[in-house]
Order: sequence, then structure tokens, then C-alpha cells
Amino acid sequence: MSRSIRLGALASGGGSNVQSIIDQIESRRLDAQIAILLSDNRGAGVLKRAERHGIPREVIEPSAFETRAAHDQAMMDALRRHDVELVILAGYMRIISPEFVQAFPNRIMNIHPALLPAFPGVHVQQKAAAYGVRFSGCTVHFVDEGMDTGPIILQAVVPVLPGDTGETLGARILKQEHRIYPEAIRLYSEGRVRVVGRHVVISDHRIEGDQVLINPPLGETEAS
Ligand code: GRF
Repeated sequence: MSRSIRLGALASGGGSNVQSIIDQIESRRLDAQIAILLSDNRGAGVLKRAERHGIPREVIEPSAFETRAAHDQAMMDALRRHDVELVILAGYMRIISPEFVQAFPNRIMNIHPALLPAFPGVHVQQKAAAYGVRFSGCTVHFVDEGMDTGPIILQAVVPVLPGDTGETLGARILKQEHRIYPEAIRLYSEGRVRVVGRHVVISDHRIEGDQVLINPPLGETEAS
């Protein structure tokens, strides 16, 4: 019998993405377990969620360490102690060191609330709304040593609507984050994800080449 994949989740905030993963696990749509939840913030709402679901958790605060490297080392040690196979960054608000990335090569995923490589960094929902793009969305990617630059696994696209603010657009994007993050973990856990250079190859996966979104939609005449 295959053993479910052991995840290590790192989160700093409310943890709605962690919750979506928990929900998929509990409803048996995702064969995985969160072996450990690590947070750098003792006030993080995600800790309560983990407690409610009986998930082992640990707070490792940066202030307890002299250097960033020492803090990252403590995180890595905890992940190894819990025999973690795949690291999931879910609203983890710190940049992880190259040593951390190298310790888990192509075994760290992140979710980003924009269509990378557009809008890397922070406050990107607001930046996308302010810029005037017609679409934004979210990206699940492997973490490399750059900021939001690793190979892309899955993306979901949402329209930007007239009058959108960072909040309204962010809420639309977040709904899709909750769908694609568990899906990316599922694909990985099924051994269907392979990194080839910058590309992520997903086996047994189909998409119609003529699936197109246009915003605003074409007028009746052009569409017919
Ligand atoms: C999400 O928007 C995620 O894309 C970003 O941080 C936010 C975390 O939200 N990296 P939550 O803590 O999962 O609710």
C-alpha cells in the first residue's frame, strides 16, 4: 500500500490555504498528511486551525536566533525530524535562504496571488488592480533561489473587473488558490510532476489549445 505523502507547511498568517489542504485531506480527495505546521509568528491564525484538526505544530520565531541562517536551520531541522517529503509555503512571509532551497531541491512549493512572472513580491493583488491588467490569478510554483521565480506547476486565471480593488480582486483570486494548491500537491503526490529545466512536465494531463478567455468579451458580431 502506498504511504501518504508527508507535508511540512510553513505559514505566517490566517492559513486559509492550509485549511483548503486540510479539507481535501479530510475528505480523502488528497492522500497526504500535514506532518508538521511551522510558523514564524505565534499569533498566526493558522496555528488555531492546525490545533482544531490535531496537526502537530511548532512556532519558530526569528527573534530567538541571531541570524537568518540559524532560524532557517531550525526550520529545516524540524522538517527533517518530521520526515517531511514536500514543503508547502502557504502565506509564509519570509524569504528562505539558498541553503534551505538546496536542502529540498524541487521539493518546496509556494502559492503566489498573481500570474507569475507578472507581479512578483508583495501586495500584488492591489498592484494588479492598479495597473489595469484585464486578467490576474494565482500561481503554484516550485521555489528556487530567486523571488517568485521557480518553475511553474499550475496557474488559475481570473478576470479583473471594473472598479476592482486589491481586496475584491484578492478575494476572487484566493478562491482559486484554494482549488489549485491542493491540486498541485495531488499531482506531485501521484508522481506526475517532473521538473525539466524551467518547465514542469505533468504526465497524463490534457488541455484544449483553443480554451481562450477574453476580457472584456468580444462583441456579438466579432464573436459570431
Ligand atoms: C495568499 O494570498 C497566498 O497566495 C500568499 O499569502 C496569502 C496567504 O493567505 N502567498 P492564507 O494565510 O493562506 O489565508
